[in-house]
Parts: sequence; structure tokens; C-alpha cells
Amino acid sequence: MKKQHVNKNRAPVYEMMQEMKDKANFSFHVPGHKRGQAYTETGGAGFLQDVMRADLTEITGTDDLHHPEGVIREAQALAADCFGAEESFFLVGGSTSGNIALILTVCSKPGDLLIVQRNVHKSVIHGLMLAGAKAVFIQPEPDPVSGLAVAPSAETVTAALAAYPQAKGVLVTMPNYYGMGSDLAPLAEACHQHGVPLLVDEAHGAHYGQHTRLPGSALASGADGVVQSTHKMLAALTMGAMLHVQGPRIDRGLLRQRLAMVQSSSPSYPIMGSLDLARRLLHVQGAGAFTAGLAAVDALERGLAELPRFKLLHPQGQQPQDAAGAASAGSTAQAALPRPAAAYTTQDPFKVVMYDDTGVLSGYELQERLEAYGCVPEMSDDRYVVLVYSLGSTEEDTRHLLDALRHITVEKADAQKSADAPPAAESRHSVQEGTEEDLRLTGASSLPKTQGSPAEFSTWNILAQAVISEPIPFGLQPIPSEDTETVPLHACADRTAAEMIIPYPPGIPLLYPGERITKDTAARLRVLSDAGAKCQGAADPNLRTIIVYKKNRKQGSQL
Ligand SMILES: Cc1ncc(COP(=O)(O)O)c(C=O)c1O
Repeated sequence: MKKQHVNKNRAPVYEMMQEMKDKANFSFHVPGHKRGQAYTETGGAGFLQDVMRADLTEITGTDDLHHPEGVIREAQALAADCFGAEESFFLVGGSTSGNIALILTVCSKPGDLLIVQRNVHKSVIHGLMLAGAKAVFIQPEPDPVSGLAVAPSAETVTAALAAYPQAKGVLVTMPNYYGMGSDLAPLAEACHQHGVPLLVDEAHGAHYGQHTRLPGSALASGADGVVQSTHKMLAALTMGAMLHVQGPRIDRGLLRQRLAMVQSSSPSYPIMGSLDLARRLLHVQGAGAFTAGLAAVDALERGLAELPRFKLLHPQGQQPQDAAGAASAGSTAQAALPRPAAAYTTQDPFKVVMYDDTGVLSGYELQERLEAYGCVPEMSDDRYVVLVYSLGSTEEDTRHLLDALRHITVEKADAQKSADAPPAAESRHSVQEGTEEDLRLTGASSLPKTQGSPAEFSTWNILAQAVISEPIPFGLQPIPSEDTETVPLHACADRTAAEMIIPYPPGIPLLYPGERITKDTAARLRVLSDAGAKCQGAADPNLRTIIVYKKNRKQGSQL
């Protein structure tokens, strides 16, 4: 798209909405609430009244997301300029809709093959199903220090492309839910050498590349199609997301058609207006937009210097200085000792990944304690709690968090596990005891207490069973019930899953239909079940049983 003059200060969709809001028009169109009028008899729609006044539809002057010629076209062009894309598309169905549309574009025929990082969000799996595509899953690199999976290496991507030259593209997630990332440029290069696009689910990195303290963006690394949840790490309304494209490898006409297929024909104007505002905030203020949020994170780092029990995850060599400017406790000993190479090089400063260095509180328990003091984290796993900061965070937020952590430090209950702790905690303990010795040997006292296998504790860590899997066909046909049976969880090892199991958050399918359940996966399912984890997709929400294929029945990756 030819670059036009850019007026960053404009927010065309939002401005149009403002104008419409002030107009005394009479509505003879949908939506049926008639700008909230339907509720006036009952005292109004409360705090939703203003949203309803701004809730428009495709009428004269409001433009059409699926055929933009006016304010939406202009707003998307401004977004492309702000995020460094050739073309940007507003998404009103979150990154979910962007991932699905991208896959339907790149895998345009049933049976087309895509190389996919194994621990992808469920929307990617759903995209594969809708496309009737085949996936070759590639293993993400597990980080030996944190135990968390990051992204596949360039070597793995290159090997997969060489093994499957018919692949239509490669899809990876960057950063991960914990804000960890690595350089995407070699992956983009490998893809481009094979003439295929690199697709990046950058749902958690909409702010990337916008400040020197933030990692670079996927687009700047050469990715061809990038999906960002503007609502997650920037300031759009929930479901507001963007899809950015550059270069010649993605068929834009087909992409438009796919977006029209997977998104409502009545897209939400409040969401589109908020995307416009989120972009303008960034475009106008530039890096300055992050000053307050980063100050809030820095205040946390300083405060934690007095609360040594709670540590934050940082890539190796990037341990922050404490408030007094000295390296944090234990780092002198660590510096003298060889440590395993990290699988990640960047950490989003806004994703604060915290752990209890004493090993007393699991991530789940720390989250529970924080919530008891009114601080609500994004998510937790067996070991870590993820606290999301953003350009909207304040030092006041940090003060509350530090207060909560101070209270938790002195809580008597911390000294011992409560009698009714979930069984998961027991298994956690036994593994941690084993690794404490390892930590002492390496002198890595301030590192998180890693377990035997990095795949054990995080629902993010779905590793492929092989570094490069066989092609796995996906489709939509329901599995005939006569081909399946329900078995207790303890009997599912070595069977083939006939349902999708998605721990949430982060929404990464632990199993998809047609995937063999290894002993490791079965053990993890039991830990999750005992810990009362929330799993989407499972027929038994308590995960005491699981649906598997009957032995000797035809098995596929359909739902
Ligand atoms: C990695 C990843 N991709 C995609 C999504 C879907 O994003 P959205 O909620 O914007 O649809 C999520 C949601 O958590 C995610 O974590």
C-alpha cells in the first residue's frame, strides 16, 4: 500500500463516533437497544449507557470494516504506520480471529501443510482444523534455568523446512505468556530462503518495538504476518486486536476474504474506536507512553530488594541491579559458576514473573495469597506468578503489591503447608527437594528451584513428542462416539486422545484429538486434575476421566 501523509493525532474512527454521539439523529437501524434508549424506562443501562450510545453499525459515514473506504481505512493506515506494517487490519475477535484468518489464507487447500510450534494457543489448532490443514509440530526450546519453553530454534525451523519442502509456512508464538522471547530474524530468514512466510502470534507483544527497553517487534525481525492482541498489552477494549502484514508472501485479497469469514459482519464500533485510540496514544506519545508503566515496574524491582524472598525471572546476564545498585543476592556465586545457556534472550519488563525463592509457596498459592490482599495476577503455574504491568500501570499499583508481599512474608501460615494443600503441592515438594541439592552444587541459590523435567510445572510447556513431528491431519468431522471410550485418568497413558484438553490460562492445548498420550502427559494431567486446574474442552471438567480412541479404531485429529 502506498504510504500517504500521516497525521498521528487523528483517530478517525473514534472521532466519527464522537460526532455521531453528539448528533440528534433518530435511529431507524440496528442495534435494537437504539443507543441505550431501550433501557431508559428501567432507569438506563447504568455504566453501559455510554458504551451503548457509541455502539454504532454500518450506516452512512461509519464505513465498513470488511470494505473500508473511509474512517476505518484511514485508521488502519495509521495503525500500519505506527506498528511498521505495510498493511494493518483491525480485529474485533481478538488475536483468535487473526490466527484463524492467517492460517486459512496460507493453507488455502485442505491438506496444505504448516510447520507449527507445538505449544500454540488453541486458536492456532482451531485454524488448522478449519483449514483441514496438516501440521508438522516443532518443539520449542526449553529454557534450562526457568524451566519454561520459549520458541523453536532457527535450526529446528530450518530442519523442518528441509524435511517438508511442501510446507506453506511456519507459525510461532513470540513472546510466550511469560514475556520471554528470542531473536526471530534467523527464523524469518530460514522461511524466506524457502519462499514461505513466517507467521507470528505476537498476541502478548503488541507493545514490542515501541521503547528501547522493550524487545523488538516481529515485523522488524522480518515476519510476514503478525497478530497482536492490542487489548492485552496496549490499551484497547477486550477483543480489540490487529493483524499486520508486510511483503509479498501473504495473499492479501484472500486474507481479506478470510477475515470477512471469521469475523462478524457487524463488528463492534466501541472495539474499533478503542483500537484507534490505543494506536493514537502510542503514535503521539511514542516511547513516552511507557514512562509511567516502566516506573511502576522499576519501583517493584527496588521494593523487592527488601523482600528477598520474592524473586523475578530475568534472562541470564540481565539480573537487574537492586535499589542500592548492587547485584542481587547470590549473583556473585552464580557469576563464578558456569550456567546452562538460556533459551531466551529477551524478557518483557511488563511481564513480571515472580516466584517464592524459599520454595514454600507454589505459584498457585502465591497467586491465592496475593488475591487475598486485593492484588489480582494474570495467571500462575506450579512455580511462577505472572503479574502484568502495562502503560496503564502506576506506582500506586506497585505500592499495593509490595504491601501484599510484605504481609505474605510475615504470614505464619507460610512456615508450613496448610493441611488441606492440594496433592499437587506434595508432588511439587518431592521434586523440589531433589533439585535443591543441584542448586547448592551450582551455587545458584537465587534461581528458581527447577524440577527434573521442564515440562512438569507449566501449562505453557507443551513440548512436541519429537523435535519435528510427522504431519498430523486436522479436520472438522466429529469423532464417531462408537470409536471412543471414556477411561479414568490413571489409565490413559499410551492411549490416543479423542478430545482436546486445554488448561486455561494460557489456553495452550495439552492434548489434541489424535495425539498419543505419553506417560509424561498422563502424569501432568493427573497433577492438573489434583490441583483443580481449569481445563477447557474436556468432557469431564474435573478431569477425572478422559475420552480416548478405542484400541484398533481409526484415529485422526478431528473433533
Ligand atoms: C499466545 C496467544 N495467542 C492468541 C491468544 C488469543 O488472543 P485473544 O484473546 O486476543 O483472542 C492468546 C490468548 O490468551 C494467547 O495467549
